[in-house]
Amino acid sequence: MRTKRENFGGRMAVIAAFAGSAIGLGNIWRFPYLVGQNGGAAFILIYIVFTLLLSLPIFLAESVIGRSSQANCRAAIGFLVPGRAGQLFGLLMVFTPLWLVSYYSVVGGWSVDYLVQACHLDFVRATPEQLDGGFERFIARPWLPVLFHMVFLGATVAVVAFGVKSGIERFCKWSIPTLFVLIVFLVVYSLTLPGAFKGVEYLLKPDFSKVTAHTFIDALGQSFFSLSLGTGIIITYSSYVKKSENLMVAGVGTAISDLAFALLAGFAIIPAVFSAGIEPGTGPTLIFDTLPYIFSSLAQHAPILSAVAAILFFLAIFIAALTSSISLLEVGVAYLTEEKEMKRGWASLLLFVICGAFGTLCSLSFGPLSQMKILGMKLFDFADSTASNVFMVIGSLISVILAAWVMPRSVLFRELTNGGVLRRNAHLFPIVRFLLRYVAPFGILVLILSTVL
Ligand code: PHE
Repeated sequence: MRTKRENFGGRMAVIAAFAGSAIGLGNIWRFPYLVGQNGGAAFILIYIVFTLLLSLPIFLAESVIGRSSQANCRAAIGFLVPGRAGQLFGLLMVFTPLWLVSYYSVVGGWSVDYLVQACHLDFVRATPEQLDGGFERFIARPWLPVLFHMVFLGATVAVVAFGVKSGIERFCKWSIPTLFVLIVFLVVYSLTLPGAFKGVEYLLKPDFSKVTAHTFIDALGQSFFSLSLGTGIIITYSSYVKKSENLMVAGVGTAISDLAFALLAGFAIIPAVFSAGIEPGTGPTLIFDTLPYIFSSLAQHAPILSAVAAILFFLAIFIAALTSSISLLEVGVAYLTEEKEMKRGWASLLLFVICGAFGTLCSLSFGPLSQMKILGMKLFDFADSTASNVFMVIGSLISVILAAWVMPRSVLFRELTNGGVLRRNAHLFPIVRFLLRYVAPFGILVLILSTVL
């Protein structure tokens, strides 16, 4: 017996849910740093072109697979590829987000911990000597980060367990606007700091001399990661989108909100980094390692304002990460409820235990388990690298091939134009199909080759 399926309420609910998945840690730490490293506006331009030509069509491919099937990701793929291969591809798409959420929620846990610390004025009063090596000490402690990881995962499970409408939709509908308000406030704060202009220049000055082959690969990889492609999320969420909704509008709306948030995050972080006279750091350490120095340096002039900014900042990181991890968990929950006929609450709990256990190992790989290496990597890095470089890329390739080469053209057309009713979409359809059939697979292949070679 099939469980009765829920739907998202309307256009705003759909975009809020998709944007919730897209906007996450990737926008806050990775995008601003990549922009700075790769020639500012030059990188942004390349990123936009890749999003339009590659990521957006892949997003549409996945949303068509999801909405046409009205089923969880495993079943959706099974409809297109019968037999064992379909089973395998489908299960891979269910496995990837669970693998991802296990370590993603470790980082989510750090944001909870920092948020708690930031509520204490001592956080911004710390001297550079006290802060030195703080991040390494913090992640190696080792049990508190594990606890916060479980708290974060628990919050994720709590939202998902409430269901698609009362849980995911309701949460995303208020949290996404809140996130934008928070980030705009932080941008204003950051831009009014002394010396902020240097940061704006670092972000925006197009410097084509910094553009190398790697810039293109970084832009492509970031665009995939940020739009949550190849993880079964878009397929699952789209299966909750009503037949009357416009999938192209949902895709474009998501891509625009995602880019807007990434840019705002850049303007919130980088000018503050420069104002504090600190080198923009790399990777996740930028937010968790560098930011405490920035807040403490800024607190010398205005401690209260700096403390408030610190709290709002970690709150924004927490919410952004939470809306993404919710989407990651939902793929597995949809699978368990529909294919294994489990109750939503039990399915969420089961995944809490499994992902909690694996995430705990990832968290401990910064401390007691740091000697345990797989392919020369700590468990956390191994999980991150396989998820982003292998599973997500394979998932995207499968989606594109299925939508562009396996699914009948008539189904693709029907889903993207609502049976021809949406005239503008019907005009755009040949372009989208061309991008899907020829351009997107080529882009994915380049990503694969860049990792292998
Ligand atoms: N898009 C999210 C971010 O930018 C990360 C993510 C990737 C979420 C894949 C879900 C799936 O942080």
